[in-house]
Amino acid sequence: MCGIVGYIGKRQAYPILIKGLHRLEYRGYDSAGVALIDSKGQLNVYKAKGKVSELEAVARLKDTDGNIGIAHTRWATHGEPSTRNAHPHCSGSGNLAIIHNGIIENYEPLKQMLLQRGYTFRSDTDTEVLIQLIEYTRTSGQLSLAQAVREALKQVKGAYAIAIVERGNSDTIIAARKGSPLVVGIGTDETFLASDATPIVEFTQDIIYLSDEQVAVLEQGKKPVITNLNGQEKEYKIKKVSLSLDQLEKGEYSHYMLKEIFEQPDTLRRTLDSCTDPTTRALTLQDYYAHRSRFAKAERIIMLACGTSWHAALIAKYAIEQYARIPCEVEYASEFRYRNPVISSKDIVIAISQSGETADTLAAMELAGKQGAFLFSICNVKGSSIPRISDACCYTNVGPEIGVASTKAFTAQLLTLTLLAFAIGKERRTIDEVQFNELMAAAAELPSKVETVLLQNDRIRRFAANYHFPADCLYIGRGYNFPIALEGALKLKEISYIHAEGYPAAEMKHGPIALISEQMPVVAIATRCDIYEKIVSNIEEIKARKGQVLSIVTEGDTQVSDMSEFSVEVPDIIECLSPILSVVPLQLLAYHVAVAKGCDVDQPRNLAKSVTVE
Ligand code: M6R
Repeated sequence: MCGIVGYIGKRQAYPILIKGLHRLEYRGYDSAGVALIDSKGQLNVYKAKGKVSELEAVARLKDTDGNIGIAHTRWATHGEPSTRNAHPHCSGSGNLAIIHNGIIENYEPLKQMLLQRGYTFRSDTDTEVLIQLIEYTRTSGQLSLAQAVREALKQVKGAYAIAIVERGNSDTIIAARKGSPLVVGIGTDETFLASDATPIVEFTQDIIYLSDEQVAVLEQGKKPVITNLNGQEKEYKIKKVSLSLDQLEKGEYSHYMLKEIFEQPDTLRRTLDSCTDPTTRALTLQDYYAHRSRFAKAERIIMLACGTSWHAALIAKYAIEQYARIPCEVEYASEFRYRNPVISSKDIVIAISQSGETADTLAAMELAGKQGAFLFSICNVKGSSIPRISDACCYTNVGPEIGVASTKAFTAQLLTLTLLAFAIGKERRTIDEVQFNELMAAAAELPSKVETVLLQNDRIRRFAANYHFPADCLYIGRGYNFPIALEGALKLKEISYIHAEGYPAAEMKHGPIALISEQMPVVAIATRCDIYEKIVSNIEEIKARKGQVLSIVTEGDTQVSDMSEFSVEVPDIIECLSPILSVVPLQLLAYHVAVAKGCDVDQPRNLAKSVTVE
């Protein structure tokens, strides 16, 4: 949430910062702003409510000269989305400008302290309090800017990734982080700063990942100096990132979400490859292999996640309990972190996160780690915070997911978790060699089966364009496909703003069936499974009450498709892998409904891709 970018070097900073903001816009798009120091030391700040293009319109006729600058795209926390609350925020003297991603939790007492000392505020943000605090700390203690930043940050509770520039100083950016991500890119005679590597890879692949409570001083023509909050210098490692530019572009697709849906055959192939030893073809799952005996002995697995990643965890519970016979609990990270959960060193915690930066998942892991659990993560973004605090990690390797609605990351999480269930089952001998080989052979067929599902894109598009979705919609499924009902409903509501809820089909008669009428579409995931007849009965009950059924069925099925207004077939596959096929038409349905409604698919209202605040 909120994207930060900074540049110091020999080139004009403005075009680099604007391009960087476009790449980070998935992190928030309530407002955007930039602060530049020109060659005479003048500080120019431009801001606009709305997307980065609004900022470009504001800055078009302005002086954007300067080789140093910072820029921000906002997801509003404190203060409504407006130009007044847009970052950068300046100190009272107008000498300092700051951008910030995170939340200063104790901003109110700090603000009161500053108000008593005569400071005034122009915005409703916690960020303005921080820059005033830094200015106050600097003037009252006669400190250098870097010292003042460190001292001020010692007084702050909460999360921050910040960057600060100073009028009259065209040589320095000060940056710091705690809880919110921040990376430094090292070029030739130039240094970059950003919330993640995506705005930087065009210029350099050499990245430093800042750690919590580190302050970086970036000076023109010099190597970064990184210290802790006490000013002690810290060594750092420069890591190579391997992101290509076409991974960051939409290419021929009209939206990132559509591109990412269509990438799934390839991303699933990549996931299979990265979980398998290239020479022996044994299932290694990256770091899992070194810790396989610990998994085999685990008395319980606790999965922590949010949103779509939480749905992946729900499905993994079915697979792990079926194949590895280890009791599994699935927790919303946001609830787990504020309970007093019972955890022991025999527990394995699996955190699942696309971004690796979700604040609640991170905090929940920290809690479990302190109580002795072994921390394993399934994550997409290399070097992000969740894998960094994990004891071991398996990356999904699907490349950047930019559409706010998670698609390819979800199917890769599902595949990784299901492979993990097979691997643990093999280790614990709860499945035999023959069964294991059959399961792996089925997994190898997934990419081509997803290709088959994608062939129905045009049919789904035509249906979505002509079907009138009312304000509400239900999704039902059972077994492995119950969480797919939740996921299908989440996809629809987050990008098309249609109210949708998912239920286990058998729960309908415990309440939700009261909602059924001719106006209520019910999306039924009714692929072949052990309890297929049961879900057919559940659909009959909806039809008897004149509900409209849209269904996902297995190729060749006529029983459910005959009862449906519209039906999409997916290839047959073993039940534990079926969610990876049945979710794809639901992704396409949500996408095409949102497009037909004229919604902003990649940047839905009120949302941001990476939820780095709680
Ligand atoms: O990056 P994470 O996987 O930790 O993110 C978790 C959720 O915020 C995320 O899945 C969210 O629900 C998506 N917008 C769903 O499409």
